[in-house]
Order: sequence, then C-alpha cells, then structure tokens
Amino acid sequence: MQVLKFWNTSKQKLYKPDYRLIAKCASSTKAFVTTPIYYVNAAPHIGHLYSTVLADTIRRNYILHGKDVIMSTGTDEHGLKIQQAANKRNMEPIEFCNQVSESFKTLCKAANVEYTSFERTTNKHHKEAVKALWNKLLLNGYFYKGKHEGWYSISDEAFYTNSQVQEVIDEKTGQKIMVSIETGQPVEWTSEENFKFRLSAFRDRLLEWIEKNPTVIVPSNRRNEVISLLKLGLSDLSVSRLRSRLQWGIKVPNESEHTIYVWLDALTNYLTATGYPWLKDIKNKDAFPPDVQVIGKDIIRFHAIYWPAFLMAAELPLPKQILAHAHWTMGKQKMSKSRGNVVNPFQIIKKYGADAVRYYLVRDGGLADDGDYSEEMIQTRYKKDLIGQFDTMIHNQILETANNFNNAFEDREFSKAYSYVFDMISQANKYFSDNEPWRLAKNPEDKERLDTILFYSLEACRVAGILLQPVMPSKMACVLTRLGVSSDKRYFKDATQFDLTKRPLGETDSVLFPKLTMT
Ligand code: MSP
Repeated sequence: MQVLKFWNTSKQKLYKPDYRLIAKCASSTKAFVTTPIYYVNAAPHIGHLYSTVLADTIRRNYILHGKDVIMSTGTDEHGLKIQQAANKRNMEPIEFCNQVSESFKTLCKAANVEYTSFERTTNKHHKEAVKALWNKLLLNGYFYKGKHEGWYSISDEAFYTNSQVQEVIDEKTGQKIMVSIETGQPVEWTSEENFKFRLSAFRDRLLEWIEKNPTVIVPSNRRNEVISLLKLGLSDLSVSRLRSRLQWGIKVPNESEHTIYVWLDALTNYLTATGYPWLKDIKNKDAFPPDVQVIGKDIIRFHAIYWPAFLMAAELPLPKQILAHAHWTMGKQKMSKSRGNVVNPFQIIKKYGADAVRYYLVRDGGLADDGDYSEEMIQTRYKKDLIGQFDTMIHNQILETANNFNNAFEDREFSKAYSYVFDMISQANKYFSDNEPWRLAKNPEDKERLDTILFYSLEACRVAGILLQPVMPSKMACVLTRLGVSSDKRYFKDATQFDLTKRPLGETDSVLFPKLTMT
C-alpha cells in the first residue's frame, strides 16, 4: 500500500504522513466503516444502536456507489468494570462477556445491520494484534517506564489530573467524594509504575493533520474541541496497569506484572478487523485505514488524539474521517441506567419495525447537538413520512395509473399517457429489488411478506399489460397470457382495480409500513 511504503522508506525517526497519498486512498474501490466496540458491562441501549445504525447507513450508502465495503463492530470486554460486573453476578468474566456480546449481535440482526467482522477483545486473533502493535510501538521507541500518579476512575478507565476532578457530596452516603468533572464518575488517587507512551511528541503532527484535513473530524464543533485540547498541550499517556490491580486484560509482552491499558487494547480492534499484523490474513489489508469511524462525542479524545498518535507511532496511515455524533437524551437528561431512562432498542424495533427505527434515529438523531428521544416523535415520523408518503406508494400508484393514463390518452397526450405506465413499471421494479424477494424466499417465516411483494409486482405487470395492449397488441397479449389473465379480464376497468383472485390483500400485509395502533 502506497502510504505504508512511504512511511517505511522514510528515514525520519518520527514519521510524517503524506496527506496527498491519504487523499488518493480515498478513491479506492474498497471502503471501511467502523462502529465503536461496545462495553459488555451493560445491555445494549438506544445510544449504542445509534452509533451502529449510522455506521450501517453509511456502509449501505457506499454500496450504492458501487464500493466493496467492510464494516467492523464488536464488543470491548476487558477492564475493571467488566471484571467487577462479572463478579457481582457470580460469573466468570468470559462467561459474562459471551452473554452480553451475543446480545449486541442480536441487536444488529434485529436492526438489519450487517457487518463483515464482529471483533471481541477476548478473541485470540485480537490479542495477537494488540501484542503486535505493542511491540511495534516499543521497537519504535515510544514507550518508557515511569511513575504514574493521578485520579483514576474505574468506570471511565481513565486517569484525570487535579484540574479535571472536583469534590462533591455522594447522594447515597452523604460523604464527600472526588469525581471527574467531565463524566461525574468517582475517582481515587492512584500511584503506580507503568509503561508510558510518548503522546506529547505528537501534538504538532496531530494539529497539522486536523488543520490540513478539514473533514477529518466532523461535525465541526467536535473538530474545534479537539483542536482546543491539542492547543492546551498533551501529557504522555499511561498505557499499562499493574496486573495486581487489573487482571482481566491482555498481558504486556514479556512483562508479566503489567496489563495493557484497555483503550490501547480496544482501539486496536480497528486493525484486527483488517487482519493486522497482516502476516497470513492479508485479505483486507488494503482496506486500512478506515474511511469513516463512527463514534459518540464522549470518546472523541481516544479516537481523535490517542488513536491517530498510536498509528503515527506505528507508521500506519490515519483514518480518513472520524464522525463523532452527539448523544440521545431523554427528557433533556443524559440517559443512564441509574436514572432509569435508558431506552430498550429491542422493544422499539419490535413495535415499529427496524426500518422505521433506523430512519427515526438517523433523521432525528443529534449529530452536532444532543437529540431528545421521544416515542411520540417516532410515531410522528412513522405517520407523516412513512405511512403518509411512502408506504402506500406502490399500492396507490398501481391503482392510479389506469385513470392517469386514460385522462392523458383522452387528451391525446400520448407521450404523457405512456410515461405514467412506465413510471409505474420502474417503481414496481424498484419495489421488487429493494425488497429482495429472493432472500425472503429462503425463510418460511417471510412467506406472507414474499407473497405481498410478488402480488404487487405481478399486478403492476398485469395493469401495464392491459393499458399497453392498444399500442403493442401482440406482445401484450403474450404478457397477459403468461400472467394467466383470461381474455374477458383484459379491459380498462380491470386495470383500475387489483385482481384479488390472485391474492386477497390481508389487513396488515398490504402495505410496506402498516398502520399501527399506537399508544
Ligand atoms: N468501549 C468504548 C468504545 C471503544 S471503541 C475502541 C465505549 N463503549 S460504550 O458502550 O460505552 O459506548 C459505545 C458507543 O455508544 C459510543 O459511541 C457512545 O457514544 C455511544 N452511546 C452511549 N450512550 C449514548 C447515548 N445516550 N446517545 C448516543 N450515543 C451514546 O465507549
């Protein structure tokens, strides 16, 4: 790959990316989209689904442009939080991870999200990728051992400085505790010797990268936030924890007393997804770096600062875009399990269907600013956009075509008249291919839906066949015979209504987005 070659042949100790080469990669036929990998300490909620659906929508849009897309998602399974969550349930950490990881896969299925790789940080090939990256950073001279002191939050898996924490009164105990200002999570003073990464060495190059690539971090409020963080300066980053404190993680190679910092471990998943370190598995090597990395605004520091710094240090190319969306709130408040205002994505998908939920999330989700979740709004979207504008489209179009055709014909506007017929045919073609009946045919549960799609598609042919008889009598006679339309059913009036002998329309399966009894 050109970018890699460039870096490898560079004589400099600290490598500078060539932005022209990165831009060139952007036009390759392969695209790579990523979602964050989700913590398994809690069940999936609507916020997780948002990141995933945005990524899948971008993936599908690349497909529209004829690209071959790989998409990675997965679960982030190491760290104290997860160790503790498993302990609480009297489970082995891996047992617990298997269970929750599976529920994220189930959510993808329910939401019609397709991925090419589901990375679990407990997988063997991922651990190998992390160790390979670690060794590369070590070899390139970016690690040193140092004393690390700071306010550590188990929940955020992050160290904070004095200026990033504050004292508050704990609501439950009434005691004074220290918390992170950014996340509100409790922190405790921690001092240990561990490995440090020379993050400070990358400040200028990160700034240059962001300034030269105006759309590398979007939306722009997030880009500005990262620029401000960089301008404040960067301290070196602690990238290991003492094993005595954290056992549930990947061991530092040849240093059995240290565990690799969970964020270095987790970020590597984007490399694992392409088969890094590309020894045997080179199939997706050229898909790296990612074209779009969808993340939430809360994890921008890790993705827009640490991650590109690790990549530069490992002489790897940088992501082309980091899309950091805002959050879903509920009643304008942050969603959290303790407030009891998290939305279960499985329930809403069950109620409104995957497409309607996907559409609502992408249409109304906050990209730059937080969006407030409301089921009422899903219902409004459903009624106004989906039932109102779209669902009845093919149904109505078939019914309306005969009269539209006839009016234009009577006015002797032949061209217009035939365009009504061919618009209906192309709409029916689209309807047919969008609904992929060949897929539905594989699953007996989808029989009803399959019948509906075949019904409308054949009805469009029948109506067109009837209306086109006067102009193309011999071919249309063939069409109608093939469709089994008897000669007494080939009149104009037959084209103004559905032939319900072919298949009576049921109450609920006659339209794409059925009317729901909404509460
Ligand atoms: N494990 C890390 C990510 C590591 S990626 C190398 C993590 N996991 S998470 O499960 O806490 O969050 C995953 C994603 O869900 C993030 O993009 C986060 O922003 C998103 N959301 C979690 N709650 C959210 C909302 N309420 N609204 C929108 N998205 C939010 O962070």
